Amino acid sequence: MNELNIVVDSAKAAFGQALTPADLENAKALYLGKSGRITELMKGMAALSVDEKKTLGAAINLAKQAIEAALNNRRQALADAELQAQLQAEALDVTLPGRQRGQGGLHPVSLTMERIEAIFGSMGFEVAQGPEIESDWFNFTALNTPEDHPARSMHDTFYVEGGSETAPNLLRTHTSPMQIRHAVQHVKRYRARLDAGQSMPEIRVIAPGRTYRVDSDATHSPMFHQCEGLWVGENVSFKDLKYVFTDLCRTFFESNDLVLRFRPSFFPFTEPSAEIDIQFQAGTLAGRWLEVAGSGQVHPNVIRNMGLDPEKYIGFAFGMGMDRLTMLRYGVNDLRLFFDGDIRFLSQFQ
Ligand code: DAH
Repeated sequence: MNELNIVVDSAKAAFGQALTPADLENAKALYLGKSGRITELMKGMAALSVDEKKTLGAAINLAKQAIEAALNNRRQALADAELQAQLQAEALDVTLPGRQRGQGGLHPVSLTMERIEAIFGSMGFEVAQGPEIESDWFNFTALNTPEDHPARSMHDTFYVEGGSETAPNLLRTHTSPMQIRHAVQHVKRYRARLDAGQSMPEIRVIAPGRTYRVDSDATHSPMFHQCEGLWVGENVSFKDLKYVFTDLCRTFFESNDLVLRFRPSFFPFTEPSAEIDIQFQAGTLAGRWLEVAGSGQVHPNVIRNMGLDPEKYIGFAFGMGMDRLTMLRYGVNDLRLFFDGDIRFLSQFQ
């Protein structure tokens, strides 16, 4: 009897040590298998008397039942543990915030362009796009800046091979060529009316875009952004330009007490020409005159190159630096930050 207890105890211990179902089945074989301990004990009874068989048989059965019970307990325990581990591994915490895809945003200069387009749009200006690889004709000559004109020296740029005076040969140094391109299209559309001595709708257009010059420091970049503006009609004057520009600046900077001044200047394609400066009355920039655009009355030669009669048509044009407007609006002091592509800088504008 004592031996049976030892067998039961050792079976329980072996089952307890089995850490996987496979271990447990191996341990089971040692006790309940064909040549397991219990089976051997049963076989050993053959030589016993009937009475001895009865008592020992009953005891062995009890021991066998005890071992089977221990086996089933351990099976259940292992199965439970496995399920528990699986649940833990696959745990889904529905209270965790979702993993969102990062939201992109527009570059600060693009934000400025969108704003400028919206403001001019509300004042009845079209938005035009033009090529960045320009010809000498549109970039210079048609804008009253013939070859050897000293003003060309301030517009050193990048040239491409294979161009000519009229075929694309350089990276445009300003958006002003869009004045000619757009006006020529406009005039072409109304040619018949003009030829019949009738008038055409006014040209009111802005042309934002990339421009290029051989220039690079904290306030100049070889690639930068401008926005051209052109307003041509029979009855337009400087006062209209001043009104529109004041409105633009006040809306753009969200400041009603911002003031403008037109400072005499020179551009080959305008006469007279003026630099437009603004001054904030409050804030960190208060009191300083800040240059934001060049402007002027379109030169008669340029009006002629548009296909219009300078005796009848008068125009006003302006060109603004988009990067500069963006720097002023957001208080950025180094232009190069716009082109470094540093996400820590750019994400502040979203
Ligand atoms: N294109 C000039 C520049 O890049 C800016 C400019 C000045 C544009 C006067 C104009 C203008 O349309 O009238 O420096």
